[in-house]
Amino acid sequence: MKMSRRADIDAALHDARVAAYLPGQFVGQESFMTADAVLALARNAGIDADTRVLDVCCGIGGPGRLVVRTFGCTYSGVDADAEAVALARELATGLPCTYSVGSVPPLPAGTFDVVLLLETVLAFHDKRALAAAVAAALDPGGRFACTLEAGMPLTPAESAVMPAAETVWPVPLAEFTKTLADVGLSTVSIQDDTATQLQVVTALLAQFTAHRDRIAAALGTSFTDGLLESHRLWRDWMSSGRIRKFALVARRMTKP
Ligand SMILES: C[S@@+](CC[C@H](N)C(=O)[O-])C[C@H]1O[C@@H](n2cnc3c(N)ncnc32)[C@H](O)[C@@H]1O
Repeated sequence: MKMSRRADIDAALHDARVAAYLPGQFVGQESFMTADAVLALARNAGIDADTRVLDVCCGIGGPGRLVVRTFGCTYSGVDADAEAVALARELATGLPCTYSVGSVPPLPAGTFDVVLLLETVLAFHDKRALAAAVAAALDPGGRFACTLEAGMPLTPAESAVMPAAETVWPVPLAEFTKTLADVGLSTVSIQDDTATQLQVVTALLAQFTAHRDRIAAALGTSFTDGLLESHRLWRDWMSSGRIRKFALVARRMTKP
């Protein structure tokens, strides 16, 4: 059977990812977060067995499966990539997870106790539209739990070298928390995960470089060059302080 592009990528990068993370820390995430960081953020957001979670930009769903297995919460994932959602569904067989395909905003209909958004805030140029959609999907007291790529917007020179730069929109932390407050989301916890994520991206870069020929045979030279270049840039930007990575929880206030 022909695999989808997303399944091809997952398969081709799997061994390098397993080797890059410390034991137990790779759970199918497509990011620099460790399993421990996913669980810490979920705990900070108060996820338990009674929580209705919406995982926005769930990708192939690794962090979501970890959260469902750990806390027994009710879980829905949404992603714009139909192939990612198909793979997420397949990988979650036997778990009480539902998925939909959709480009956010808008969010899927309904209200939730927690909206998760892991490692993808940077893809949204209009953070206010994103934040407003998240706030509207939360009941009062509900929580938005996300990771943030914090820093000034890319310069033209930085955009020129970053693969898929049209999906890379960092924002200063204070500007982001103000945007959240403007739509009725009050930030209640901020954790600086830069040091841990720097270790992960450094290890991923080393493993992708070691597996380069095999990855290129499966996915092509151009994809592989972009993969390595983007990881080099993230490593350099995190080690220099150009970008910091935060895990953040904001609570929906009764009135905006
Ligand atoms: C880096 S992956 C992160 C996946 C997952 N959250 C994780 O941590 O493993 C980013 C995902 O966001 C999805 N995405 C990006 N922009 C989106 C949008 N506007 N609406 C829905 N999905 C989006 C992409 O298709 C991709 O699957």
